[in-house]
Amino acid sequence: MNTYTTVAALTAAIEQAKKEHKTIGLVPTMGALHEGHLSLVNRARKENDIVVVSVFVNPIQFNNQEDLAKYPRTVDADLEKLTAARADIAFVPSVEEMYPEKVETVYHFGPLEEVMEGPRRPGHFSGVAVVVRRLFDLTQPDRAYFGEKDFQQIAIIRNLLEQIKYPIELVPCPIVRADDGLALSSRNMRLSPEARAIAPNIYATLQQAVEMSEYEDVESVQLWVMDTLSSFHEVNGLDEKLSFDPEYFEIVNDITLQPIDNWDDAEGIVGCIAVWLDGVRLIDVIRFRP
Ligand code: PAJ
Repeated sequence: MNTYTTVAALTAAIEQAKKEHKTIGLVPTMGALHEGHLSLVNRARKENDIVVVSVFVNPIQFNNQEDLAKYPRTVDADLEKLTAARADIAFVPSVEEMYPEKVETVYHFGPLEEVMEGPRRPGHFSGVAVVVRRLFDLTQPDRAYFGEKDFQQIAIIRNLLEQIKYPIELVPCPIVRADDGLALSSRNMRLSPEARAIAPNIYATLQQAVEMSEYEDVESVQLWVMDTLSSFHEVNGLDEKLSFDPEYFEIVNDITLQPIDNWDDAEGIVGCIAVWLDGVRLIDVIRFRP
């Protein structure tokens, strides 16, 4: 694997690959790599001649400076994992290399960014779009791989591709979970052992919600998930520190991301949740239909 820290070195390698008519798969990441990220790399490995993985903690997508400061950085371990996963190129630029000038571009995504993460993280998706577009420009991929854990991000990238009209295939990849069901996330390592132990209840609650959706209406299921998590510590006699504080749980059309009222309002339906636990913001998603 070749590791490049400069745009010039990356560009030279991409030009060479293009000359040889090789297909390119891009996996954008912010590092602190785990099996979720590596599942994207493995998929890209199967489908492309050259696999490029970017490792860049993108400051302009953080609306919370503390979150940015606390974001785990484990570059050496990341590069070892990428070598083992047989990536061809790791692109690990500095902020100055990625953004030599102040970023002025702002992307808009209409109704897609008016729900869920959008209003709660102002500027986040525009920041994601800026970095992803820059990575598209630099690597000119045939395919780009994104995880369904960040479900709204996939819809945003799909919309970005329509806006900029790049012929890049967007490849959504399923969520990878720990054995106990918790969706893998770089943020999980910030949970105390006690919080980590109860965190799988997020997914367990979502799974029960899918069962309930066979006989309960949308609103009841939505409220039940919020209530079940909010009251979890009380019901189980746990310390307040171990309380789940759900920010939202939305049951939405899987393409438009707009909330549905009835189970037959859309063909594809998912439930997306953001929950605070132990000072860490966790997100997850589950499929209700089909
Ligand atoms: P990051 O959080 O590092 O995630 C990189 C990619 O890995 C994303 O597409 C994300 O959805 C996927 N991923 C993370 N956890 C996963 C899991 N448990 N199962 C499957 N896929 C998982 O998302 C970002 O970085 C950034 O916003 C980025 C797109 C790199 C732009 O900066």
